[in-house]
Amino acid sequence: MANMAQQPADHPAGQPREQWSTRTGFLLAAIGSAVGLGNIWRFPAVAYENGGGAFLVPYLIALLTAGIPLLIMEYTIGRRYRTSPPAALRQMARPAEVLGWWQVAICFVIATYYAVIIAWAVRYVGFAADQAWGDDPEGFLFGTFLEAADEPGFVSGYVSGVVWPLIAVWIVVLVILAFGIRRGIEKANKLFIPLLVVFFGALVIRAVTLDGAAQGLNALFSPDWSELSNGSVWVAAYGQIFFSLSIGFGIMVTYASYLRRRADLTGSALVAGFANSSFEILAGIGVFAALGFTAQSAGVPVDEVATAGLGLAFVAFPTIISEMWAGGLFGVVFFVSLVIAGLSSLISIVQVVVSAVQDRTGMHRIPAVFGVGGAVAIVSILLFPTDEGVYFLDASDHFINQYGIALAALVGVVVVAWVLRKLPELQRDADATSAVRLGHWWRICLGLITPLVLGWMMIDSLRKEFDENYAGYSTDFLLAVGWSVAIGALLVGVVLSLIPWKAAGGGLIDLDMETAEEYESHHHKDDPGGKEDR
Ligand code: PFF
Repeated sequence: MANMAQQPADHPAGQPREQWSTRTGFLLAAIGSAVGLGNIWRFPAVAYENGGGAFLVPYLIALLTAGIPLLIMEYTIGRRYRTSPPAALRQMARPAEVLGWWQVAICFVIATYYAVIIAWAVRYVGFAADQAWGDDPEGFLFGTFLEAADEPGFVSGYVSGVVWPLIAVWIVVLVILAFGIRRGIEKANKLFIPLLVVFFGALVIRAVTLDGAAQGLNALFSPDWSELSNGSVWVAAYGQIFFSLSIGFGIMVTYASYLRRRADLTGSALVAGFANSSFEILAGIGVFAALGFTAQSAGVPVDEVATAGLGLAFVAFPTIISEMWAGGLFGVVFFVSLVIAGLSSLISIVQVVVSAVQDRTGMHRIPAVFGVGGAVAIVSILLFPTDEGVYFLDASDHFINQYGIALAALVGVVVVAWVLRKLPELQRDADATSAVRLGHWWRICLGLITPLVLGWMMIDSLRKEFDENYAGYSTDFLLAVGWSVAIGALLVGVVLSLIPWKAAGGGLIDLDMETAEEYESHHHKDDPGGKEDR
């Protein structure tokens, strides 16, 4: 069994599966995926609204009880089955493949609009240089730049100012993916992450030395302990951790499928988890110091200028840039940081779609990248650089996050922990090669805490959905571009899992897998290349 398992699982199309060249390469790519726009514009506002300094308590608990345990689970699944989510879940149990394709469909949707935000940031690098927004950043964003319609409705115009940067973003992403894991993704992240650290570090230092920075930091960090008894604060903490660590997208399963057999999993998850949170907290400091500065210049309290998301990056920051000395330079560095952080996340999410198709069909990399990745790019380029693009983006983002990622993560842990009862096996597998051993706590976190919190989150957000229409959009609009996108992703997942994919190399179906433990006992400890994995 062990002998036959070795081959076909790793060589679906007769080609050896690619691997990261070093553990650092994998870690940088995993961190690159996790550190994205969500860290920069989501964390600061979520922390601020949910108890400030006191929020760090539920946040750290969420990281330790759900974030890192789930990260370990996803890494272990990826490394054990050495294939992307649909094929990996299929090997656990045939019907579970649906879940894998559902995640792939979710990644497809997210990639189409995430690229658009990066394209905006690309244009804003230029706008920041000469502060093209003048004294009306908001009017400039929606009117001059995005040419957005007054309200959601039918597309009636194409916005050429967004199309070109968007095409450029897609060319960069597809070319990096075409170079493969080691020469493409790994190399790109080895460049991106250090650059991001330097740029972002410089921004934060500049921000905390602005007048009024202390006022902003006080607003962010002064703890409101009474918030800890508020359930929705805990929901926000878990939600932030899931999104920010990119858990539940299938990304981490995919990236870990390119690990070597003996790679340390638990240690890597701890490093990636803490690196991501450190970055996020740093972003909170930078953003609030800068908001403190504008609040002081305008003579208003910080809560009048605190925003999140698109409004923070493309309206509040331009205001700050215009008010500060040498703001142009600060602005260029800020938007370049957004572009870098976004690109490394976009690469990871497109790779999920590309490798899922590759692993199920045996297609070679280049045709898969340009065929499948190209399809994502085309949808993105057709739909979003339009006068309705910003509304599509907003609604599909909300619905796919709530009823895509979070729901798929909930179904995923319940299936793995309770239906298939795979946790003990996965735990043995992770422990076989990891420096830190997992105790009972790991199974308790995944089997109990995570499903309970995710379940509660789901009920909570559904309740809000029916209480009032998201962002005040009309029900028709939400049905057309919100609910239909979330439900559509699930249906596409079901359909894709029913396709009788050609089992490439004849070996994909019902393989008996060799665990890392068995692998260890079947192979010499001193096999070449093994040391590098640790
Ligand atoms: N952790 C990522 C972020 O903070 O932006 C989540 C993510 C979003 C990953 C979109 C990848 C992606 F394409």
